[in-house]
Amino acid sequence: MKYLVFNSKKEASQEAYKILKSLINENSTLGLATGSTPTDLYVEMIADYKAGNFSYKNIKSYNLDEYVGISYDHPESYHKFMEKNLFDHVDIDKANTHVPDASASDLELAVKSYQEELNKAQIDVQILGIGGNGHIGFNEPGTPFDAGVHVVDLKEETIQANSRFFDGDINLVPKQAMTMGIKDIMRAKHIILLAFGKAKQDAIRSLVEGDEITENIPCTILKNHPSVFVLVDKDADFQ
Ligand code: GLP
Repeated sequence: MKYLVFNSKKEASQEAYKILKSLINENSTLGLATGSTPTDLYVEMIADYKAGNFSYKNIKSYNLDEYVGISYDHPESYHKFMEKNLFDHVDIDKANTHVPDASASDLELAVKSYQEELNKAQIDVQILGIGGNGHIGFNEPGTPFDAGVHVVDLKEETIQANSRFFDGDINLVPKQAMTMGIKDIMRAKHIILLAFGKAKQDAIRSLVEGDEITENIPCTILKNHPSVFVLVDKDADFQ
């Protein structure tokens, strides 16, 4: 695992983009994340595309997760997030982008088909943020490491943390999500995990320090992955 500390989210995201670019080509498959963490990385990706240095025409992407219970048109859905923050600004073919179909009327079927799609794919680089409780994707503490795609009841602290995107009102935050499992995340060839701000410090400590691997802190499984880059700002740094 490579652990890198930067002065700011901007600097970390610039370096994350350099690392990403060194690991992919224009036919690669990306695992994408949402939330406040990867936004500056997406800014870098868009800028490099606009400068004519990279094309997404043949890039495929798979997103980690999506809320259950809000429509894709909701401004905080992860479908909308991806359009707003990346897809609408590069030449990616929307048919090559995949976000869990969490508003399907038959969720069980949607879980099964996302799993099948992922099983057929090989993600070259998975981008990850991290929850304050160590969740990756929406794999909350206690999720078995061998879990595949599933529907999850979000933990109180996650609902609380994400209420900032829903006018600070926890009642407006979806209580469930559909997420890739830990097993799916671990299949990626490379992982770039970003973390910014004090609230991520404990999770980053558990991830980087010591040998403990526990389902109670989902991110700790990444210690078993052969190619992980962890980039943080100084507030998330635990040292
Ligand atoms: C969210 C997402 C995760 C994300 C994490 C941190 O709930 N499901 O994929 O990494 O929690 O969010 P943020 O980047 O907004 O701090």
